[in-house]
Amino acid sequence: MEEMKKTVLIGVTGCIAAYKSCELVRALQKKGYRVKVVMTENATHFVDPTTFRALTNEPVAVNLFAGAADPIYHISLAQEADLFIIAPCTANVAAKVACGLADDLLTTTALATEAPLVIAPAMNVHMYQNAITQQNLKTLAARGITIVEADEGYLACGEVGKGRMPEPAQLAEIVDDILSAPKDLAGKKVMITAGPTIEPIDPVRYISNPSSGKQGYALAQAAQTRGAEVVLVSGPVSLDAPAGIKVVPVKTACQMMEACSESFPECDIAIFTAAVSDMRPSIVADAKLKKGVNDKELSSISLVENPDILKTCGHAKKPGQIVIGFAAETNDVIENAQKKLATKGAQAIVANDVSEGKGFGADENDAFFVTQDEVKPFGPLSKRQLADAILDEALILASTL
Ligand code: C5P
Repeated sequence: MEEMKKTVLIGVTGCIAAYKSCELVRALQKKGYRVKVVMTENATHFVDPTTFRALTNEPVAVNLFAGAADPIYHISLAQEADLFIIAPCTANVAAKVACGLADDLLTTTALATEAPLVIAPAMNVHMYQNAITQQNLKTLAARGITIVEADEGYLACGEVGKGRMPEPAQLAEIVDDILSAPKDLAGKKVMITAGPTIEPIDPVRYISNPSSGKQGYALAQAAQTRGAEVVLVSGPVSLDAPAGIKVVPVKTACQMMEACSESFPECDIAIFTAAVSDMRPSIVADAKLKKGVNDKELSSISLVENPDILKTCGHAKKPGQIVIGFAAETNDVIENAQKKLATKGAQAIVANDVSEGKGFGADENDAFFVTQDEVKPFGPLSKRQLADAILDEALILASTL
């Protein structure tokens, strides 16, 4: 029996690059996708819906209330799409989607769909570089939406700079990558710890570290894309929770331990990226400690050891469970990771060098995947690429159990 074609919905907005969307239709059809088009009213000034109607052999959607046969058109479109790509996406539509505004068919569909969303912004260079636009694109990316950076070059307004819609063939490639991503973690439960912990000294002071949580969040996102059910136990970070992932927010190591104790027994793979404080103040003052009054308490804070979450879970693991730890080191990176394997009860340690501004907060990671049998160098890779590489290795480890 012939396999059902996947449906790609293209959202076309009011930008001169709308003519390139015609080519995008063709490029996606060549890859075997059924293509439908939804346009904003403004986009129809650049390309007539009849063109897309002819190219796709499908009705072209513009108006929320036009389809009398289907009064909830935005919902049916949203459900039909296996992927929704807005290309070109104007600054206005990017801003609306970032805020959850839904005042026409295209933006309503963007809000209603559960399919992966890809946005290819195209606009004048100054509009693109405007801090407001950049912030909106960041917000969208943090919500798990794929943002395809605009290309540099000659712009319709006569200026030269960043703002061109990437070539349709490149966009079709990105769509294809997402839709053909392996669902090799389907049916698996993955628990990930991320971010720092904070250990209060008094109501206004705490001990912590600069972990951004980016690596843990990238792992959570990658695992979800690959079909896993993900629990993300997260210390305080400034990242938005990826849509569809269960996030358990915690502050202290003890809270993180409690959350992990609850989720760990049920999970197939547990990855501990969090930078957990090893120690916490033995006494937390009820009121702010004051200079001149509490000098003794302020000048020497007595500490007690925090639970080692990885070690506790590592030694409690049942046959079939995969436990992977991280080791952020400034020296003897591999040796330290090898030592940690046994002490923590982990099957693998991802070791990375955090000296000289690497690792923490950065977007790239240079790491080694250290197991009993080998040391695999990974990198430099983006945190997302490293996430996929770690998940590949976790599946290999699982297959050898
Ligand atoms: O012992 P160290 O802190 O260097 O080990 C790092 C690894 O152990 C990381 O995977 C980290 O998430 C985990 N860890 C933990 N609980 C602690 C300390 C570290 O889970 N209290």
